[in-house]
Amino acid sequence: MRSKIVAGNWKMNLSQAQAQELCREVNNMNIGSGIEVYIFPPMLYVNECQMHATHVKVGAQNAYPKDSGAYTGEVSMWQLQEAGVTAVLIGHSERREYFRESNAFLKEKLDAALAHGIKPFFCCGEPLEIRENGTFLEYVKQQLEESVFHLDGAAFKQVVIAYEPIWAIGTGKTASAEQAEEMHAAIRSWVEEQYGKEIAENTSILYGGSCNPGNAQSLFACENVDGGLIGGASLKASEFAVLVAEETWTILN
Ligand code: PGA
Repeated sequence: MRSKIVAGNWKMNLSQAQAQELCREVNNMNIGSGIEVYIFPPMLYVNECQMHATHVKVGAQNAYPKDSGAYTGEVSMWQLQEAGVTAVLIGHSERREYFRESNAFLKEKLDAALAHGIKPFFCCGEPLEIRENGTFLEYVKQQLEESVFHLDGAAFKQVVIAYEPIWAIGTGKTASAEQAEEMHAAIRSWVEEQYGKEIAENTSILYGGSCNPGNAQSLFACENVDGGLIGGASLKASEFAVLVAEETWTILN
């Protein structure tokens, strides 16, 4: 059985005091049975969140593939491992766009994360023009082929995939349940081609992009949607609480 996961990507938001408060609130949430909750705070707060948010898992939004050296401003996967951080986001569209991270570089990051026992949440997804010209399946498949599908089965099993259509991130425009399911089913079929049915069935594929209490039920009810990577709604305790609650996952199932 694959894991159901709700992950909050706090991005570059919150003061230290706000982060502490949100950590406390997340820690006190009523989490539905069998749902794994992760938070990805700004790097500066990761350590503190690990201490305060003990009921959930705390990951990093980014890390550099080299272990150590002259890479000013970066934090390495090895350093995350040393600090007890167990998950990392890789390939978020904001990293791809603003920091020019290529599929080849993301492949290096993925390898480094796995080498250090850190669970990668690999993000993929197409921009609006690709959605509109109809080549979105090919586009996302290529992202996976160039960054992920070189892994062997044992390594791939550690990876969580997050499908985040760029046109839906932070825009208030969500993919419809049908659009999400179409992509998620396709991703699972490519994983099956590559790694076989058992691994495909056990791979968690999350949806991300303006997921909120108003649309989460219909998204999470899709057969191939195993949870969400949540941006804006993860910053509001009242909204995130709905996304991790049992009812959101059960009413439509
Ligand atoms: P959003 O962000 O929920 O604010 O659209 C999702 C993400 O970027 O992970």
